[in-house]
Amino acid sequence: MLIDDLKQIQARCGFLPEEEIRAYSDRTNTPLYQIQAVASFYPHFRLEPPPRVEVHLCTDLKCHMRGADALLDAVRALGRSPEELQIHPCSCLGQCDGGPAALINDVPARHLDLESLLGLIEEPPSLVFPEARKVGIDPYPGASDYRLWRSVHQGERPAEQVIADLKESALRGMGGAGFPAGTKWELVRGAAGAVKYVVCNADESEPGTIKDRHILENAPHLVLEGMLLGAEVVGAGEAILYLRHEYPGPRLAFARELERAERAGLLAGAPRVRIFDSPGGYICGEETALLEALEGRRAEPRNKPPFPGTHGLWARPTLINNVETFALATAILAHGVEWYSSQGRHGGTGPKFLGLSGDVNRPGVYEVPLGITLRDFIEEYGGGMLPGRELYALSPGGASSGFLPPSMADTPLEFRALAQVGSMLGSGAVVAIGTGHCILDLSLNLLRFFKNESCGKCVPCRVGTEKLLRMADGWRHGRGSEADLEVLEELAPAMADASICGLGQIAPAPLTSALKYWPDEILAHFRERRCPAGVCPVGGG
Ligand SMILES: Cc1cc2nc3c(=O)[nH]c(=O)nc-3n(C[C@H](O)[C@H](O)[C@H](O)COP(=O)(O)O)c2cc1C
Ligand code: SF4
Ligand code: FES
Repeated sequence: MLIDDLKQIQARCGFLPEEEIRAYSDRTNTPLYQIQAVASFYPHFRLEPPPRVEVHLCTDLKCHMRGADALLDAVRALGRSPEELQIHPCSCLGQCDGGPAALINDVPARHLDLESLLGLIEEPPSLVFPEARKVGIDPYPGASDYRLWRSVHQGERPAEQVIADLKESALRGMGGAGFPAGTKWELVRGAAGAVKYVVCNADESEPGTIKDRHILENAPHLVLEGMLLGAEVVGAGEAILYLRHEYPGPRLAFARELERAERAGLLAGAPRVRIFDSPGGYICGEETALLEALEGRRAEPRNKPPFPGTHGLWARPTLINNVETFALATAILAHGVEWYSSQGRHGGTGPKFLGLSGDVNRPGVYEVPLGITLRDFIEEYGGGMLPGRELYALSPGGASSGFLPPSMADTPLEFRALAQVGSMLGSGAVVAIGTGHCILDLSLNLLRFFKNESCGKCVPCRVGTEKLLRMADGWRHGRGSEADLEVLEELAPAMADASICGLGQIAPAPLTSALKYWPDEILAHFRERRCPAGVCPVGGG
């Protein structure tokens, strides 16, 4: 498999040397252009030797709010040789509760300031794995014995009953789209074909999204058992954890659990389970892009339909669910539907994992009743806003959910309630933004994320994200005109209608939501050449 083979070459040589690529091409009869196309697409692959220290510093929303750009400038100003030190800005590393965050020689480092970063450049860190903490939804008092999966495997609990229970619980997919889990399991079970797959989507790369990291580190057995249950119900012979490569902690936790369960003989008769380390990029989380990556190609989304449930991995029926969906499925089937349905607030059902980051006292991942209001979540779990900061803006569900003003802080964190206010629960990533920030500056940061992460396959997204970024950057510098607003009015719906996947469809949301709720602040940038928060370089270059 091309991607796995390239990973092995890189692990051996530190990068992908030209002669190794040629030798591989000869050995496997793979055309050179095909290897180059894949190697150049994924951020994980290096085409040149690495320096002594390589820093990938996240400059996405949460790290940007905490001064990542100043760190980047300061390290660049050191003027070290490229053989000694390279620093690259990068997209979200899934460490948003510990920003500014970086990977230093592939090891995550959190809560950086200039002093600690310079120290780590002199002496790069080694991997440290936090102690696992039991999660609240865990039905097992001690280590899991996989009895739930075995009861289905041995026919004591019919697959139809599993589907009926999931449907009754109304569990929805937690990866962003919220598709009902029981219905998906039923569709894949009913899909024609003797060969089927299960894929657990652990790509988690949207700024603010950290819940899957937490679940995998602390409850890998619930995810593994959910994958096995899914495989049993749909009739899959292989289950794959598709994991972002910047997650060494979750990887170790899941691999250890798999090994423990196998060694203890708990998984006798279970389908093969393996981990696929994603070579990177936010787009890999889109379910069909992920399938392309698993098949060894560039992670460019497929046109849908057909959907993965009938035409997934290698064109076979494939059940794809998010990490949290699998963990919750295990918990529901073990505790019972009543346990799940009896939890929740304001019309929400069940427990839910939410990441919280931004200007709060206690950022982190919390298990909350679905439907808790944004305000209560920030106060009860996050310990309120940082001293001296009033709530200024909210992002309830990741970059795709846009911004909401403080007047909407009583909106429940729940699928329908958020859809009603034009937002979404998305990937369960709440960002609480305090006074002192500029909404245009923050929107620009998210637009840059979407533009950088667009795979470029379709024109509306490739050109649209670039155009949005240029427009907002112009405003930030005090350049722009009323005509821009007309362009935006046409561009945003065109991108929503014509982009192949969710990235391009939702990319305008940060800017359109900011304009909707903070029009005066945004327009002041080019109408009055003034940034009301004093953040943007209006009037400058
Ligand atoms: C650009 C993009 C990125 C995505 N990234 C993720 C991701 O990292 N993890 C995830 O579970 N779903 C992600 N999704 C959603 C998946 O396409 C898919 O809906 C999900 O994995 C299905 O699982 P669920 O039904 O359990 O939510 C992404 C979607 C898009 C459009
Ligand atoms: S919408 Fe963007 S990310 Fe999605 S396929 Fe098109 S170019 Fe790629
Ligand atoms: S780690 Fe920086 S925004 Fe997520």
